[in-house]
Amino acid sequence: MAANPFHLAWFLQGSSIQAWGSPWTGNISEEWGTASMFLDLVRNMERAGFDYILIEDSIYIGQNWKDSRQMFLENGMSVPRQEPSVVASIMAAATTRLGIVPTLSTFAYAPYLTARIVGTLDQISSGRGGWNMVTGSSDLSAMNFGADRLPDHDKRYDMAEEYIQICKQLWGSWEPGAIVADRKSGILIDHTKVHTIDFEGEYYRCRGPLNSGPLPQGQPVIAQAGGSVKGKTFAARYADTIVAAPRGIPAMKAYRDDIRSQMTAMGRDPNSCKTLFLVTPIVAETMDEANWRAEQRAVWASNNVDRCLAQLGWSTNIDFSGHDLDAPVGELTTNGHQSSLAQFVTKAGKKTLREAIIAHASGGYSTELVGTPDVVAGQMAEAMEEVGGDGFLINLPDVSRRSIATICDGLVPALQQRGLVRTKYAHEQLRDNLLEF
Ligand SMILES: Cc1cc2nc3c(=O)[nH]c(=O)nc-3n(C[C@H](O)[C@H](O)[C@H](O)COP(=O)(O)O)c2cc1C
Repeated sequence: MAANPFHLAWFLQGSSIQAWGSPWTGNISEEWGTASMFLDLVRNMERAGFDYILIEDSIYIGQNWKDSRQMFLENGMSVPRQEPSVVASIMAAATTRLGIVPTLSTFAYAPYLTARIVGTLDQISSGRGGWNMVTGSSDLSAMNFGADRLPDHDKRYDMAEEYIQICKQLWGSWEPGAIVADRKSGILIDHTKVHTIDFEGEYYRCRGPLNSGPLPQGQPVIAQAGGSVKGKTFAARYADTIVAAPRGIPAMKAYRDDIRSQMTAMGRDPNSCKTLFLVTPIVAETMDEANWRAEQRAVWASNNVDRCLAQLGWSTNIDFSGHDLDAPVGELTTNGHQSSLAQFVTKAGKKTLREAIIAHASGGYSTELVGTPDVVAGQMAEAMEEVGGDGFLINLPDVSRRSIATICDGLVPALQQRGLVRTKYAHEQLRDNLLEF
């Protein structure tokens, strides 16, 4: 392998049905909910040597446009989507090396339940389980769980500190070697090696031990996407892998450098956490076709300003429907994903809301990747050289068997030929594969 290989993961936005209406999506409106599409995706990813699939989640139907669900339902925006831990189990059963990382939001699952779900996933996948730790973004989701609103943004991270301590202690509540399975004495489990945790915090209490037993990885892989000051510090303290979407190479480099220096200050080896940057590559057989598709993306955004703003409103918890499209973006605040909003506002500068949202929706997230497989492979290599590592999180808005093939059978072999990604897995467990290089 070349001097600086990098990692690849896939960002599955809840489900594949959002691709409905795009070409080559088969009968997706009928088949989306069944296992077949997910299984085809993960088998392709595993063949291509991806580190993991991250199953994104939110637990509500958007209503951030004219205070109505109409826009979200009519266009299938982030709806429907299924329970990620269930989808994760069938993905685990269909693969042997790929890491499986469902999103579980801290406000929705009790810490014991998260520890148990992720622990079980790690067991049934023989050490490939992970957890995308998110604190939530919308009061609408809190209302589905009996609350009027989410706690304030920074308080959510304070609560998450206790939450993750409970999970980690529960995963550690079985000492190595606790299952003795001694046929002579007839003892299966050494009871002196399984401990309560007796956690008493400000926000949570938990007795333990975990009743689902020890994990193959000991501790599962923690994925995190903190973008705010609090969020990044949290990620630097706990994450094994970070998924991030800063826009542009300098911002990517600054983000990674910041995480690494925080990790060093905390006494963690900065190489023990891999930051993967969100990208939406447009990969085609010819440059003309790739450029045409990139132009189409911009045309689509200009013709669907309402939809693009509703989508931004969904992730930032803002209803933009009353905002003047032709006035400057100005100051905006949120109790949702702060960094997503801050990035949008900074990038907008003096642009009007219309201009800013078109630019936002036409771009490729962290860095623009457009071209033939070999050209995109070169663009990725250049980006990694400047940023320093550690890889990319691939996000396709139109998940179909054809678009999956453009990545797994087009782009990845081009990356492999340059020695930039693995050609086969070196290990069986997810953390080991993340630490391979
Ligand atoms: C690549 C990526 C994936 C994310 N996935 C989810 C998700 O599945 N569910 C969710 O509620 N938030 C998700 N987020 C939002 C983050 O959890 C986080 O709230 C956001 O990056 C803003 O950071 P902050 O909370 O520190 O302000 C994601 C963010 C990024 C960049």
